[in-house]
Amino acid sequence: MWSDTSVRESAALSPSPEASPAPAPTKATPMTGFLKVEQLAKAFHAEKPVFADVNFTIDKGEFVCIIGHSGCGKTTILNVLAGLDTATSGHCFMDGREINGPSLERGVVFQSHALMPWLTVRQNIAFAVKSRWPQWDRSAINAHVEKFVALVGLSPAIDKKPSQLSGGMKQRVGIARAFAIQPKMLLLDEPFGALDALTRGTIQDELMGIVRETQQTVFMITHDVDEAILLADRILLMTNGQETAQGYVPGGMAEVVVNPLPRSRTRAQLHHLDGYYDLRNHIVDFLVTRARAH
Ligand SMILES: Nc1ncnc2c1ncn2[C@@H]1O[C@H](COP(=O)(O)OP(=O)(O)OP(=O)(O)O)[C@@H](O)[C@H]1O
Ligand SMILES: [Mg+2]
Repeated sequence: MWSDTSVRESAALSPSPEASPAPAPTKATPMTGFLKVEQLAKAFHAEKPVFADVNFTIDKGEFVCIIGHSGCGKTTILNVLAGLDTATSGHCFMDGREINGPSLERGVVFQSHALMPWLTVRQNIAFAVKSRWPQWDRSAINAHVEKFVALVGLSPAIDKKPSQLSGGMKQRVGIARAFAIQPKMLLLDEPFGALDALTRGTIQDELMGIVRETQQTVFMITHDVDEAILLADRILLMTNGQETAQGYVPGGMAEVVVNPLPRSRTRAQLHHLDGYYDLRNHIVDFLVTRARAH
C-alpha cells in the first residue's frame, strides 16, 4: 500500500543552511491524491536504476514543482505521468485511474517544444483542439486557438511556421497548445527554459493567473529555485543516482518542501516576504550539498 512516510515533508524550514538537512517532519494536510505515484522506479540499465521508490501525490488544484540536478530523472518521471514512457516498476494514477498511455486529459509542455514543423502556429494548436473536441466547427476552433495564442502574446505570429519563430516563441506555442486543450492536469518540463528573463516573468505571471483562475493541477520541472518558490505549493527535491562505498544508490525523492509563503505572492514582492530566504537557502543547500552527496 502506498504511504507518504517514505518522503520527508517539511513545512517549517531551518533558519540557516548550517542547520540543514533536518527540518522537523510535520504532518501534511490531508491529501485527496488526485495524482498518485506509487513505488515508481525506472532502469534503462537493470543494474543501475535512474531512480527507485519514488512516491508522491498531487492534490486537485495543486501546483507542484520538482527540482534536481541534470540526469536525476525528472523528465523520465514526467514522461511516465504523460503516458509516453513506462516505469520499470510502480504505478501512477490520475483521478482514480491508472495511467497507461497518453491522454488529452493531460497537457504536456516538452523540454524541447515538439511542434509540427510543417504546420503554422494556428494549425499546430488547432490540431490539438480538434482532437480534444472533434464535434467543434471550424469557427469555434479558430476562436479558441486565437484566444490561447493571444494569451502567450503570439497573435502577430499566428500564421507563421515554427522555423520562422525564435526558440522562446516556439516554447510559448507549446504552452498555448497545452493550455488550449484545458486538460485535467498540466505537465510542464522546464517550460520557460528558452525564454529571456522579461518574457519569462510575464509568462510566469500569466501561468500563475490562469492556474489559479482555473484551479489547474500542475506538475512542473524547473531548474530555477525562485520560479519554484513563486509558483509551487510544494517543491519535490530529487537526488541523483550515485556510486557510494556501499555500491550504487538509485536517485529518488529526498524531501517534499511545503511552500509556507502566502499564495497571493507576486514576483515583485517575493524576496520581501518573511520566510523567503529560509526557503531559498534550504533548496539551494539541498542542491549544493545533498542532491549528489555520497
Ligand atoms: N531513452 C533512454 N535510454 C537510456 N537512458 C536514458 C534514456 N532517457 C533518459 N536516459 C537517462 O536517464 C537519466 C535521466 O534522464 P532524464 O532526461 O529523466 O533527466 P532529467 O532529470 O530530466 O535531466 P535534465 O535536467 O538534464 O533535463 C539520464 O542519465 C539519461 O541519460
Ligand atoms: Mg529533463
